[in-house]
Amino acid sequence: MYDWHEIGALDAIPRLGARVVKTPRGDVAVFRTADDQVFALRDRCPHKGGPLSQGIVHGRRITCPLHNWVLELDSGEAVAPDVGCATSYPLRLENGRIWLGLNNGTNVSADARESA
Ligand code: FES
Repeated sequence: MYDWHEIGALDAIPRLGARVVKTPRGDVAVFRTADDQVFALRDRCPHKGGPLSQGIVHGRRITCPLHNWVLELDSGEAVAPDVGCATSYPLRLENGRIWLGLNNGTNVSADARESA
């Protein structure tokens, strides 16, 4: 089961941007698409650990800033021909606020870092 953590307002994330949420198990990147969908992936590319939060959001995909792997935002899966997967996390959007689901007992703190 998940513990749900409120991590801030949707409007605090620019469209096509990201926000980093710090957890004891690593940074989580929360992305906002052009049509206000939100997705959360571990902020670590499955290729060589690049910061996905600094990548480019396009459609429902993110391009890693280091070597341009493209990952699906909903699953974290790399788009072929690349093979790999970033951990994805469940999100809920309620009244303009974003809730992040983490395994029970994980504490989080939101950070103001953003990329656009
Ligand atoms: S580290 Fe992301 S593409 Fe290489």
